[in-house]
Amino acid sequence: MRVLCIGGGPAGLYFGLLMKLQDPANEVIVVERNRPYDTFGWGVVFSDATMDNLKQADPASASEINAAFNHWDDIDIHIGGRTIRSGGHGFIGIGRKRLLNILQARCEALGVKLVFETDVSDDQALAMQYQADLVIASDGLNSRIRSRYADTFRPDIDTRQCRFVWLGTHKLFDAFTFAFEKTEHGWFQAHAYRFDDNTSTFIVEAPEPVWRAAGIEQMSQEEGVAYCEKLFARYLDGNKLISNAAHLRGSAIWIRFPRVICRQWVHWNTLPDGRRVPVVLMGDAAHTAHFSIGSGTKLALEDAIDLAEEIRLGGHDGLPDALARYEATRGVEVLKIQNAARNSTEWFENVERYAGSLPPEQFAYSLLTRSQRISHENLRVRDAGYVAQFEHWLAQQAGVPADSLQLQAHQPLPPMFTPFRLRGVTLKNRVVVSPMAMYSCTDGVPGDFHLVHLGSRALGGAGMVVAEMTCVSPDARITPGCPGLWNDEQRDAWKRIVDFVHANSDARIAMQIGHSGRKGSTQLGWEAMDHPLPQGNWPVISASPLPYLPGESQTPRAMTRADMDRVRDDFVASARRAAEAGFDWLELHCAHGYLLSSFISPLTNTRDDEYGGALAARLRYPLEVFAAVRAVWPQDKPMSVRISAHDWVEGGITPDDAVEIARAFKAAGADMIDCSSGQVSPDQAPVYGRMYQTPFADRIRNEAGIATIAVGAIFEADHVDSIIAAGRADLCAIARPHLANPAWTLHEAARIGYRDIAWPRQYLAGKRQLETNLERAAAQEKQA
Ligand SMILES: Cc1cc2nc3c(=O)[nH]c(=O)nc-3n(C[C@H](O)[C@H](O)[C@H](O)COP(=O)(O)OP(=O)(O)OC[C@H]3O[C@@H](n4cnc5c(N)ncnc54)[C@H](O)[C@@H]3O)c2cc1C
Ligand SMILES: Cc1cc2nc3c(=O)[nH]c(=O)nc-3n(C[C@H](O)[C@H](O)[C@H](O)COP(=O)(O)O)c2cc1C
Repeated sequence: MRVLCIGGGPAGLYFGLLMKLQDPANEVIVVERNRPYDTFGWGVVFSDATMDNLKQADPASASEINAAFNHWDDIDIHIGGRTIRSGGHGFIGIGRKRLLNILQARCEALGVKLVFETDVSDDQALAMQYQADLVIASDGLNSRIRSRYADTFRPDIDTRQCRFVWLGTHKLFDAFTFAFEKTEHGWFQAHAYRFDDNTSTFIVEAPEPVWRAAGIEQMSQEEGVAYCEKLFARYLDGNKLISNAAHLRGSAIWIRFPRVICRQWVHWNTLPDGRRVPVVLMGDAAHTAHFSIGSGTKLALEDAIDLAEEIRLGGHDGLPDALARYEATRGVEVLKIQNAARNSTEWFENVERYAGSLPPEQFAYSLLTRSQRISHENLRVRDAGYVAQFEHWLAQQAGVPADSLQLQAHQPLPPMFTPFRLRGVTLKNRVVVSPMAMYSCTDGVPGDFHLVHLGSRALGGAGMVVAEMTCVSPDARITPGCPGLWNDEQRDAWKRIVDFVHANSDARIAMQIGHSGRKGSTQLGWEAMDHPLPQGNWPVISASPLPYLPGESQTPRAMTRADMDRVRDDFVASARRAAEAGFDWLELHCAHGYLLSSFISPLTNTRDDEYGGALAARLRYPLEVFAAVRAVWPQDKPMSVRISAHDWVEGGITPDDAVEIARAFKAAGADMIDCSSGQVSPDQAPVYGRMYQTPFADRIRNEAGIATIAVGAIFEADHVDSIIAAGRADLCAIARPHLANPAWTLHEAARIGYRDIAWPRQYLAGKRQLETNLERAAAQEKQA
């Protein structure tokens, strides 16, 4: 096979040498526009795991890379005059030039033809010239070939918000170093790592507006570098920052990172000689991943390994299938890395959010777990000492006395099991049973089912159980099976449940009050959810006369001021009854497209009076209800507000709006925002995934400065630990896992080996057996 690689970076060179290694009869040509041994850039990093892949693919070049790299385990985070170090991260730094030299020499030794100083403008002509069977577009980030066949590759390029510059220095850092410096214009950060005996990479980055305000855009290259040198002087010990981009003028060395993703990676050309020859994207030409997760070179090298292997398996005639498999396999791998890279990129774009709100310890933890690929337990494996110290710090912040037995004994205290205090209420841990409609009431009265349902979950270890949406009037119900608090019979039935929880557990119990609005008068959850009743429908009201399911749902009546007064008073009366029933906490339901939510979202509020229009006006009625309820709800008890932080529909509520919504409720006296999303419009297109709504809780907590509850696909103790530890939320609401297992919290504690948790004394024999069985299983797994 004749292989032509256009672009002699890590991707082109490595693929070239692997193809030659696979079969010396393969003819491989790598064409590069630069001179040999002439390159841009400082050091690159990759992880120990990538090194293992290289060893397998080509032991000879791997051993040379191995001999040339600089290895380190620690990460140092410098913020606010503090340095926080954590270990066990396992990185390799190598000069880009050194890496390319090793690969070039290995190519030459194997007989790969290297053609330098040739800027390829026509890949088809070159493919003809070399009679290539396969053309690799390894021409990097600004790939000309990708542009030429853009109709096939369909690249999507997202130019990110920060400006960054890639510099070097002779200061030798002994850890991967993140340094944050606040200027009068905002935050700048440096990412620095040593890659050989006398040089470190030093990348400086700042959000575009901060960079502009600092005047760097107008500076010469030298002035810009001098600015960074001064700003980061305390880390440089008198060493200079050096630019090696002499060919660029002024601030052109400062670029914005382009995230590249391509829908397809293979384009087939029919050459003038009639042969069908594929052009295949590889490395940065196909995809990029932000430098803050150090994966660009890794992806380029692993693309090369994968394609070479697919070709080996497929044989010469199997090329089309091999290429299809390459695209499919690598596409998935790249998506995973890009997801992590997106989280990481966004974190660095929003340093202000975290630096402004988190203490240095938590800021550092948030940074270490920013990609959401490293969880609390991963961190513990990397550096148990760091995690133990951090856990103890967090526990003290949460009010665990420094002289408590746990802290004295230096036992792990997972963040999930730290207490949380709000007004006069202390929750024993950070787990909340999320409100879940059970559709099992008659005339709105909760019965034995609710007693057992909520009672057993209160016994199951959660810090608090939240009762399902409870409706403020008969016509406020979602379904005929929903509970209410519009009469004293219902109040007394709730009191029985509250009393049981208080008498038999140390869990707290919350009431969620709501009005269904246009989503009312519908069938039970296990029937046709959100669809109107077959008969016996009651009239529904909403912010505007827009049916939920057009053509099927009832068209609601737009609320008049008289309706607003009545409904507000219904909320107040229900809150009073909730207090009389003894609930510890009250949540106002302003999410999921129900009545109050229908005022907030522009999709469902088209009013032209003072309750419609801009967000502030759309919030007016929900805030009025909140204020009226807060006025009668006991002062020593907290009130949270559940919102839909994202409508997942073009033109609907966005996470930016959600921060404003949270600010408005905070100003009105809300203690906490419960950050759900969606269910406002049937046109929604949510992006589901592990902890997918947690970023909303994170933003709101750290931008609006109010405590938050994270909810949505949080289903392991490790998720809760990471969320709480990083300050992304203060509580985690867990819904569906509690349907499967009322004692979810007790089970998770046992699963992570945390024994210092109280079980109901009647169940203690179960605790011992569960812990023993899990311990045994873990030991067996270790042995296997
Ligand atoms: C600031 C910064 C920091 C980074 N840090 C890391 C890191 O820590 N770890 C990491 O793994 N990655 C890092 N990267 C990314 C890494 O440099 C790239 O992902 C990696 O080099 C991709 O390899 P590649 O072979 O696909 O492309 P490149 O290395 O860009 O190689 C493409 C080659 O094609 C040549 N070429 C382009 N067009 C033509 C043409 N028309 N004719 C002939 N030749 C052509 C170019 O001269 C170049 O040599 C970083 C990138 C930046 C910008
Ligand atoms: C059966 C069921 C009923 C629900 N009822 C309510 C409710 O009454 N009020 C509410 O705010 N959310 C309700 N939700 C949403 C949950 O509280 C939670 O936000 C959602 O299920 C995501 O969490 P999870 O991934 O842990 O299940 C309900 C969810 C389920 C599964």
